[in-house]
Amino acid sequence: MNFLTEYLVAEENNEQQAKRSKLVAGNWKMHLTSEDAKKLVKECIRKVRADPNVEIVFCPPYPFLYLTHHLIKDTLMKLGAQDVFWKEQGAFTGKVSPKMLLDSGVEYCIVGHSETRGRFGKLDITEAMVEYFAETNSTVNLKIKALFDHLIHPILCVGETHSERVEGLTEKIIEIQMIEALKGIELSLLNQLVIAYEPVWAIGTGDVCGSEEAEKICKFIRNILAEKYAPDIAGNVRILYGGSLKSENAAEIFRQPNIDGGLIGRASLEIDEFCGIIEHANKEKK
Ligand code: PGA
Repeated sequence: MNFLTEYLVAEENNEQQAKRSKLVAGNWKMHLTSEDAKKLVKECIRKVRADPNVEIVFCPPYPFLYLTHHLIKDTLMKLGAQDVFWKEQGAFTGKVSPKMLLDSGVEYCIVGHSETRGRFGKLDITEAMVEYFAETNSTVNLKIKALFDHLIHPILCVGETHSERVEGLTEKIIEIQMIEALKGIELSLLNQLVIAYEPVWAIGTGDVCGSEEAEKICKFIRNILAEKYAPDIAGNVRILYGGSLKSENAAEIFRQPNIDGGLIGRASLEIDEFCGIIEHANKEKK
């Protein structure tokens, strides 16, 4: 990136930072029963101080979307899904379309999570397992296009594995993930995108990425948006951090200028933890 582009991004980011609302999304993965879900959401509604500058998004498994939507429909909280298939309808057993998500009240959808890509942060993952889950940068691209067609915000996850990090490939991997996932998408739509930097080695491992390192990578992601797309898009897109985020490390992470919130797995299942993280987002909003 040349000096002028870097300067423009920094200027744009200073201005836009104040306008970007924070976002805290809870990814429940394949956990909870409907009773647990009900309890968790009700408790969260009771405990959390609603703040229009901090969006709270629940991403339950498909069978609990309707239930969760029903519980939060009169609040400022939002509904998200964990995955989507890109076709509108058809003979695709087991798949769920963006049209169905929209019909269930979904406003956000995670795509490209390292778990749907088949990687689980573990060192012993087999290539067969990666192939079995088989989400690739090009299917992520189809999903993002289909979500935009239905006015659902994609939450695009990017991040490197442990070995890619050790080999110094972090930035290269993330750049490829972004360019391929965003190929052919109309520029104006990109303002509605959310990106989550999720280092695979930090997901579900308790091994949180330091705030300085997380900020450095999120700034790199913003610079890619400016360089490949436009400085104002870089200023508008919200970039989250995800990977072993808890209430004890959330404040430090949320304080970083290029981090606009978090994508939370394990800690989103524990009411005090999740509410604690939201409280930090409320305090650290710009
Ligand atoms: P974790 O998961 O918070 O349990 O590490 C984060 C994620 O997978 O989005």
